[in-house]
Amino acid sequence: MTTSLTDGTDGLETIVAARTVLSEVDGAAGRLIIRGRSLDELAGRTRFEDLVGLLFDGFYDDLPDDIPAALGEARAEVFAEVAALDTGLLDRTPVEAVRALMARLADGDDAATALRLLAAPAVFTAAVVRAQAGEAPVAPDPALRHAADILRMLRGAPASDAEADALDTYLVTVSDHGLNASTFAARVVASTRAGLGSAALAGISALKGPLHGGAPGPVIDMLDEIGDPANARAWIEAALDRGDRLMGFGHRVYKVRDPRADALKQAVRWLDARQGRLEFAEAVEAAALAILRERKPKRSLETNVEFYTALLLEALAFPPSTFTCVFAMGRVAGWLAHAREQLAGGRLIRPASLYIGPVPRQAA
Ligand code: ACO
Repeated sequence: MTTSLTDGTDGLETIVAARTVLSEVDGAAGRLIIRGRSLDELAGRTRFEDLVGLLFDGFYDDLPDDIPAALGEARAEVFAEVAALDTGLLDRTPVEAVRALMARLADGDDAATALRLLAAPAVFTAAVVRAQAGEAPVAPDPALRHAADILRMLRGAPASDAEADALDTYLVTVSDHGLNASTFAARVVASTRAGLGSAALAGISALKGPLHGGAPGPVIDMLDEIGDPANARAWIEAALDRGDRLMGFGHRVYKVRDPRADALKQAVRWLDARQGRLEFAEAVEAAALAILRERKPKRSLETNVEFYTALLLEALAFPPSTFTCVFAMGRVAGWLAHAREQLAGGRLIRPASLYIGPVPRQAA
């Protein structure tokens, strides 16, 4: 076999690196299945806690029956770590601050550890946003459903049911997605038996990159800079001329429309106060897709999840700097389920590499 670092196989897209019962991403059909249920069936109809139950089923012997109550208690438990938010951490980006607080949690492989890790991005993100705005953190209310409590902790006031439903739709939509980069990173770490906390930290570290979970913040920048649909073509052409990528477009697996984009667009529609913004975004999307087709006719570059993520999270009043953290609030469920699945049946993940560097003279 011959290969090089740039021969097109270095992104591993043709390699099957895990067998999983958790989710299937059908890129040709534009379909996502999570544990036997299609995303169309789940999004907008399922609470995050129920989705966690679906993903975790069979992977934890000690999983509590009442996941909403246990997750509420876990939120209250991890809130103690918010005291460690010092000025050094507050100077960092929100995802770096949240990751640092997550690193303070004890590692382990049991359901209690998993629930604390599920709660952590939600509790820590809300506290970081408030602290960066000079406001005191709001303690969790364990009696609330997770999505409603996230919005309450963020704003210091209760959210409407429609807003909590929209956030639930988002968290469910992004909860798991095959062997994406952050889930693969989590599985690699889990395979060393380092613990669920270490796997989740690997996940969030991979997620923060702009080619993965860091894209939706720049989507807002793009929309704000375009400002008016009449400017869309010129702005997009100039960006592509510079060699930039359009954030929120293209996907490694989906070669037709990303079904998650549709689920999130629908959720933005429910928050009907944002219709003008949605229509503007649709005009920019249409211009971007047309230009990508003109410039890359052989590539199928479609709208991905991050484009409508940006619109939805903006409508829910999350600052763009926290969008990656909100992604982590949902995807952490997938990381933890995959980590347990890896532990249950997988070996240490240790692929081979092909040495293409110089050889010592005496061995040549
Ligand atoms: N804008 C412009 N051109 C693009 C874009 C884009 N968004 N995406 C891919 N292309 C082009 C590349 O320039 C390349 O063109 P070339 O072959 O003529 O050089 C071609 O399409 C293929 O690109 P690759 O990087 O090989 O495709 P890959 O599968 O590695 O990329 C990725 C997938 C990283 C998502 C890419 O489409 C991208 O950078 N998108 C923008 C960032 C983004 O939206 N990320 C979020 C993804 S969804 C998620 O992770 C949750």
